[in-house]
Amino acid sequence: MDKLRIAIGGDHAGYFLKERIKKILLDLGHEIKDFGPFSEESVDYPDYAHPIAIAIQNKEFNYGILICGTANGVNIVANKHKGVRSALCWQEKIAELARSHNDANIIALPARFIDFSEAENTVLTFISTPFEGGRHANRVNKINEYCK
Ligand code: RB5
Repeated sequence: MDKLRIAIGGDHAGYFLKERIKKILLDLGHEIKDFGPFSEESVDYPDYAHPIAIAIQNKEFNYGILICGTANGVNIVANKHKGVRSALCWQEKIAELARSHNDANIIALPARFIDFSEAENTVLTFISTPFEGGRHANRVNKINEYCK
């Protein structure tokens, strides 16, 4: 598989899962930029999710990975950014469909509701599944039509 540039970050609730996912991706040879946080100390997820979403919007990375407790906070923040399609994924099949149907460019993981091996498989499926295009391309194009 081609080496990817991946941005990762979230909040304190996602810290341990972030560290583990980061190690797996680095071991596979991908280039990772960790936007933090760098400990379990309580932080505000928008401070981490906005910079990653902006970097994805600017096409600085192939994919983003956002991790907080439920994944809702980071996912809501990321989807405020035009061109960002962040998908809350808690199992492999959802990650596969988020890529093949929605062309998602960020995966949002709920650290408090997913075990490590499911999270690992979910991320690996996400980054290795291509967008199907075709009828899904029409739908994805319409997402931005209504954005300012
Ligand atoms: C932090 O306690 C928690 O609120 C956060 O990780 C996330 O679940 C928010 O959506």
